[in-house]
Order: sequence, then structure tokens, then C-alpha cells
Amino acid sequence: MKESWWALRVQLKALALWFLSGIPEAPGMWARRACMRLFLQSLGPKAVFQSGLRVTNPERVAIGAHCRFGQGVSITGGGGVRNADRVSIGPDVKIWSVNHRFEDPAVPIQLQGWDHKPVSIEEDVWLAANVFIMPGVTIGRGAVISACSVVHKSIPPYALVAGNPARVVGWRKRPDDADIGHLVEPISRNVKIGA
Ligand SMILES: CC(C)(COP(=O)(O)OP(=O)(O)OC[C@H]1O[C@@H](n2cnc3c(N)ncnc32)[C@H](O)[C@@H]1OP(=O)(O)O)[C@@H](O)C(=O)NCCC(=O)NCCS
Repeated sequence: MKESWWALRVQLKALALWFLSGIPEAPGMWARRACMRLFLQSLGPKAVFQSGLRVTNPERVAIGAHCRFGQGVSITGGGGVRNADRVSIGPDVKIWSVNHRFEDPAVPIQLQGWDHKPVSIEEDVWLAANVFIMPGVTIGRGAVISACSVVHKSIPPYALVAGNPARVVGWRKRPDDADIGHLVEPISRNVKIGA
């Protein structure tokens, strides 16, 4: 009895989120700003959610103040996703915090369960359209991720990143090498040095 009530609650929550995400334009943005806090782990003030947002396990997703979400953003929150303040997320971005397990070739992937790895997106990051963030990644403060990049490793603060796999192609603000050595692969020689 308790289990079926729980399952019903999960389904009702999914239905409510689906309905909320489909409301277009200004009324939708108003409704999502007002109601998403009921589903998310936390939500700072003045967030903007355009339509088409899909979030699984929203209770594991924390969103800071003044974050902006373009149309059609997908977040799988099972492993935990944290967006700090003033994160800008372009249309159709995907943020994934869960992987299928596949280590045992004798067992179908569907039966091997899941790996959960938290994603953290620090303050003032811009994810351009169609970016894909893989489980376990941290995007450092102020980084810019170019359109369609696939980010499978953590990104240092203020980097400009592009491609699949994503690589540092420039800087908004160049850090000391000692600060970033543990976070990135060797950086391309062809970097633009920012201010
Ligand atoms: C992030 C962005 C603004 C950077 O623009 P920029 O500063 O003019 O940078 P550049 O275009 O000079 O790119 C720098 C280098 O990265 C490469 N690069 C940029 N974007 C790339 C991509 N998505 N994939 C592969 N390489 C890319 C460029 O070829 C260039 O390399 P080069 O110096 O060897 O020629 C731009 O690439 C972008 O993604 N815009 C997003 C548009 C968008 O999604 N809008 C929705 C609004 S939320």
C-alpha cells in the first residue's frame, strides 16, 4: 500500500512537471519560477526557465539565483546536479549525472544498474546551445562552453571550451598553470589569451 502510494506520487510529480514545462512564453516563465521550487532541492530567486525543461530526480537538483535556462534543456538529476548563481544555459543543453553500468559483457547493460556522479556548474558559466555535460564533471567559475561541445572532463575557471571531446581553446582570464594542472589535459598551443 505504502509502495503504491509512493509510485503514484512519483507519477503525479512527473505529470505536474511535464505540464509545467509545456506552458509557453511569459505565463510559462512565471509559472515555472513560482512552482519549480516545489520540486527542486533548492532554487534561488529570479531564475528564468523557458519551455521544454525536462528534469528527472528534481529533488537532487539545486539551482542558484538568476540562472537562465533556454528552451528544451534536459537534466538527469539522479547523481546530483548543482548550478551556482548566474549560470546561463542555452537551448537544448543536456546535463547528465547518471551512466549505465556496462563492465560485465556477459550481462545485458539494462540489467547492470547505474553509476551516479554529481555535476557541478559554478557561478557565471555560459553553456551555449546543444552542449552536453557528462556525469562527474565540474565546470569552473566563469567558463564558456561553445555550442555543441561534449564535456567529459572538468573545466578550469574562465576557460573558453569547444568541440567533441571538449578542449580549452582560449581564456576569459588566464589562470596560473599550477591552479589548473589537476583539472585538464595539456592545453592546445593555439590558445587565445584573455585579459
Ligand atoms: C562560445 C562562442 C561565443 C565563442 O566565440 P568566439 O570567442 O568568437 O570564439 P571563436 O569562434 O573564435 O572560437 C575559438 C576557437 O574555438 C573553435 N571553436 C569554437 N566553437 C567551436 C565548436 N563548437 N566546435 C569546435 N571548435 C570550436 C574555433 O574554431 C576557434 O579555433 P581557431 O582559433 O583554431 O580557429 C561561440 O563559439 C559560441 O558557441 N556561440 C554560441 C551561440 C549560441 O549557442 N547561442 C545561444 C545563446 S544561449
